[in-house]
Amino acid sequence: MLPVIVVHGGAGLVGAERLEGSCRGVQEAALAAYRILQQGGSALDAVEEAVVKMEDNPMYNAGCGSVLNELGEVEMDAIIMDGKTLASGAVSAVRGIANPIKLSRLVMEKTQHLCLTAEGASRFAKAMGVPEVEEESLKTDYSRKRWVENLAPGSNPVESQMYGKSVSVSFLNQNRGKMGTVGAVAIDSQGNVASATSTGGMLNKMAGRVGDTPCVGCGAYADNLFGAASPTGHGEAIMKVTLCRLILFHMEQGMSPEKAADTALEYMKTRVQGIGGVIVVNSSGDWVARFTSEKMPWAAVKNDQLHYGFYKGESFTLPVSSI
Ligand code: GLY
Repeated sequence: MLPVIVVHGGAGLVGAERLEGSCRGVQEAALAAYRILQQGGSALDAVEEAVVKMEDNPMYNAGCGSVLNELGEVEMDAIIMDGKTLASGAVSAVRGIANPIKLSRLVMEKTQHLCLTAEGASRFAKAMGVPEVEEESLKTDYSRKRWVENLAPGSNPVESQMYGKSVSVSFLNQNRGKMGTVGAVAIDSQGNVASATSTGGMLNKMAGRVGDTPCVGCGAYADNLFGAASPTGHGEAIMKVTLCRLILFHMEQGMSPEKAADTALEYMKTRVQGIGGVIVVNSSGDWVARFTSEKMPWAAVKNDQLHYGFYKGESFTLPVSSI
């Protein structure tokens, strides 16, 4: 089996000043994960490595660079899933660690549970020897600025949804764009698939809000029989349609990754006015990056070719040897 890695950097609205950095970051993450796969490493190790790279990169809404909640704090969600066994591990509303995806893997491998939250997750992190980091080190000037901007009356997209105001899809596209998430899917040379996703959640979310990311079938799904998916977008909408499991269901029914991704994203848009994006790989190594948002930085590596894009319909290819 030719190994494949696909990563995304969130379906959010990316300003021109961050465009280059967010495109470069997904390429670096994909290439780092591909090196693992090339050396015979597992899909699980590859998706974890890709997500760690993006959690450590302040360009993205995950780890360092996470958006702030209504109180100006960082609360992060993450999940990892192994398509060989359907084992998964997740953390929600976790604070004060650099890499929630690593803690998710520890939940999967060292506990009998699928998800640990808030203080329980922190206690587990401490027991596992995961270093604590200062919350301020996870914030950036950009995340602080966006938090302040969204305190202004009428500018917080969460309020529009919370109080049931009727808003247009273009409003949602613009405002939900101020979110983002990172994710990776892979298939290794043994034919095992895996998925991993990590996020700071939604800008100015309520304290304690848990989104789609740590929920199996919503924030990730992986099953060797069919493939793996990782999403980005409005978490509440993703949860309503269990987006990743829906995509896998469509693939079970015989759809290609592209058709399955488009069908599920269109359903989320029309049924619950949810905008987002997904990366998908199937058990044959066919892959796709699709989104209903305006933009989504993504990158994929297969057969020593790096593919990447940002705007809809855009795809560039470079040989890995030229990078
Ligand atoms: N999809 C990320 C979130 O809404 O939390």
